[in-house]
Amino acid sequence: MRQFRLFQQLILREAGIFLADAKTVLVEGRLARRLRELNLDFGAYYRLVEEDERERVHMLDCICTNETHFFREPRQFEFLEQHVFPEWLARAEAGQMSRRVRVWSAGCSTGEEPYSLAMSFLARFPAASGWEIDILATDLSTRVLEKAQAAVWPIEKAREVPEHHLKAFMLKGTGPQEGRFTSRAVSTSSCAGTSSSTSIRFPRPVSSAGCSTAWSRMATSCLDTPRASPA
Ligand SMILES: C[S@@+](CC[C@H](N)C(=O)[O-])C[C@H]1O[C@@H](n2cnc3c(N)ncnc32)[C@H](O)[C@@H]1O
Repeated sequence: MRQFRLFQQLILREAGIFLADAKTVLVEGRLARRLRELNLDFGAYYRLVEEDERERVHMLDCICTNETHFFREPRQFEFLEQHVFPEWLARAEAGQMSRRVRVWSAGCSTGEEPYSLAMSFLARFPAASGWEIDILATDLSTRVLEKAQAAVWPIEKAREVPEHHLKAFMLKGTGPQEGRFTSRAVSTSSCAGTSSSTSIRFPRPVSSAGCSTAWSRMATSCLDTPRASPA
């Protein structure tokens, strides 16, 4: 328990995640493989993690749950499409907000969440609409962030995407990409300069400055009130 408490404090400090005492077995289980690989006990591993930043990142990767799906919480997307989008459109029409929106997918895992958001936004605010949608995708885990940036998923996951979005915004892989699919309508920081009105950025280090809305499975929050655009 004493060693668990050390990890508990370190994880709280580094990631803002509070692991209750009831998670002792879970933490031990998630770190067991790494301890075997390094042939260390918990005490020695804790000392290593304290000293070595790369190992700290690795440790947090082991601890985090990265489960995600496209359109994971359908009611959040319904709310966005049925309430938030019409309100923004009306406010922009009335000159009460700019046509530039920034969205933050705060723990984006392997990218399904920011790409679900991108598809919803693109369907309502296509490139020619004059709206500019900037999605910021961040995650504690560099491992999942790299996957999110690659934006290639196993074809089985296509089932999670509504048919009309799949047809409009995704591309089925062929040749070496057989059995996978990818996005074809969103520009990312690695392929900037496309004509898409919706882009996803994967900044490191993280800054959410200027975001209008933060998105997570548990809550969608308003970070600030979008202001009228300068003339
Ligand atoms: C369970 S996944 C959820 C992914 C996605 N938001 C969804 O709902 O489908 C949680 C993600 O949040 C990330 N995470 C946890 N704590 C974090 C923190 N303090 N800062 C950034 N990302 C964090 C984890 O690495 C993980 O990829």
